[in-house]
Amino acid sequence: MTFRSGNPAVDRYITEDYESVRGMSSRFAATICAHVIRRQTDLGIAGHFAEIGTFEGRFFIAMALGLAPGERALGIDTFDWPDAGIVDRFHGHCARLGLAEDRVVAIKAAARDLTDGDVAQALGGPVRFWHIDGDHTPKSLTADLDLVVQSLHPQGILCLDDMLHPGYPLLIVAVHAWLARHPEMRILAVIDREDIVAAAKVMICRADAVDLYGQDLVDAFPAHHWKLGSDWGDYFAVVLTPNPRLAVVE
Ligand SMILES: C[S@@+](CC[C@H](N)C(=O)[O-])C[C@H]1O[C@@H](n2cnc3c(N)ncnc32)[C@H](O)[C@@H]1O
Repeated sequence: MTFRSGNPAVDRYITEDYESVRGMSSRFAATICAHVIRRQTDLGIAGHFAEIGTFEGRFFIAMALGLAPGERALGIDTFDWPDAGIVDRFHGHCARLGLAEDRVVAIKAAARDLTDGDVAQALGGPVRFWHIDGDHTPKSLTADLDLVVQSLHPQGILCLDDMLHPGYPLLIVAVHAWLARHPEMRILAVIDREDIVAAAKVMICRADAVDLYGQDLVDAFPAHHWKLGSDWGDYFAVVLTPNPRLAVVE
């Protein structure tokens, strides 16, 4: 079986051009997330894509190419690392890879300095898929979650990067604390790492939206489904991993 999102433009980008845009998210995660964007379109869940921590746009472009006509993609980044030329490289990649100028919005700012009003002004409607990949401290991640949940479509997805990463072990603690304050939200799925750079993501959605996505992910990617699931205490989430296997005990 070929591993793909099912959106030809996205799959072409991930296969042929992904490495031409510097970045950190894995092809594996981008393919699964693009599948979710396609599923949302099929279900009639309309809205924009937005990302905190866009860098040169590697993951951003994959998601933006999957949007429906009229939907836009917002990239929020300080756009100052590793140099001031990064915002021009971001826009250059978007144009080169087929994203029309009026479909891409960039905000050059630290996410902590933005309000939901800034997001609303940039996009003018709900976000159906948020990707959080900015400042990797628990305090910033909590602030980012508090910001993005305000514009999230009721059936939308929050996708968090670098979860369970050896370099950022406290991020998941912040996620647990945030979920305790948001009992309406659930971990939908854990998308495993490819390596130490392209690390794991989690997808979060409202508890009443889990059934829209969970079984579909299992059906779409059976060769990558780790059947034991992810134990979050009161419920299990889907685990998708490049190489599902169990330890061999002899
Ligand atoms: C790991 S990189 C993002 C990689 C990108 N999402 C990808 O998949 O290729 C992290 C980015 O977050 C940005 N960043 C760091 N702190 C931020 C903040 N407070 N607000 C917005 N962006 C931030 C950095 O400038 C950097 O471009």
